[in-house]
Amino acid sequence: MNLVEKINKLKKEKNAVILTHCYQNIEIDEVSDFVGDSLYLSKMAAKTDADIIVFAGVYFMAQSAKILSPKKKVLLPNMNSGCLMADMIDVEKLQEFKAKNPNLPVVCYINSTAEVKAQCDICCTSSNAVEIVKSLNTNKVLFAPDTYLGKWVETKLNNVEVITFNGFCPTHLRIRTEDIEKARATYPEALILAHPECHTEVSKLADFVGSTKEIMEFAKKSDKKQFVIATEKGVVDRLNRDSKLYNWEKEFILINENIICPNMKHNTLDDILYTLETEQNEITLDKNIIEKARKSIDKMLLAGSTK
Ligand code: 13P
Ligand code: SF4
Repeated sequence: MNLVEKINKLKKEKNAVILTHCYQNIEIDEVSDFVGDSLYLSKMAAKTDADIIVFAGVYFMAQSAKILSPKKKVLLPNMNSGCLMADMIDVEKLQEFKAKNPNLPVVCYINSTAEVKAQCDICCTSSNAVEIVKSLNTNKVLFAPDTYLGKWVETKLNNVEVITFNGFCPTHLRIRTEDIEKARATYPEALILAHPECHTEVSKLADFVGSTKEIMEFAKKSDKKQFVIATEKGVVDRLNRDSKLYNWEKEFILINENIICPNMKHNTLDDILYTLETEQNEITLDKNIIEKARKSIDKMLLAGSTK
């Protein structure tokens, strides 16, 4: 039996599902039940009736799955899979941020720890951030930890001031305006699609800005044939695979060869097999934290129900 067969067999025996973020190594799709962005995977984690969830993603994503399905065993194949942005804010820093800007609703990007989520009013992902901030019906909000996503949301709404914490994604910030200019010159026919975690100046120059899922949907629907992608390499790999598989005859080019999130690439098929066999690398969370963090995720799922 090869690795994929072994994993699939164990999955059945143990009633497990594998949820995979689209920045993961592409071979993981072969054993995955659901592949997508943070919002989609959160919804799948809440819905599944499996006994075990293996989360092929980063730590905060597995924590979110645990928050949404607290009775299930949630396993992270490789415990080194952190998120540098999520680690930029802890409860103490969040309290300081709130104290400096008192009496404002706090929106937290899903790329944050469970403890931070527990201290925020509502959660969001890059797919629904605009919708979530809008749903608060207020003209001023605090947004943490990603300053660029928060500022991008502000440009999409009239008369809402978004005060942002100074966190960022080091991978997306590797994309420079020079990369966009170079791509325009090299691929004049191509559309440039960017993630809102990119620097504001990069987002301004892109043809389309959206979450990983929105980028993939836009590219699939568009009648253009060539696209430069300004987000993590996993998205480009999947788009090129699907283009071949379904004869889209479209070409997807990674804006710059360094746009790889090292933390997203830790999980391997070997790790998945190991975690399924041993049930090691379980995500555990304090009951209190689960209850409080769940409120902010549930509010998001309710307010952002259209996506
Ligand atoms: P999505 O919410 O678009 O899946 O992005 C998650 C992420 O970590 C982006 O860097
Ligand atoms: Fe975190 Fe950035 Fe990696 Fe996404 S790409 S998981 S925000 S470090």
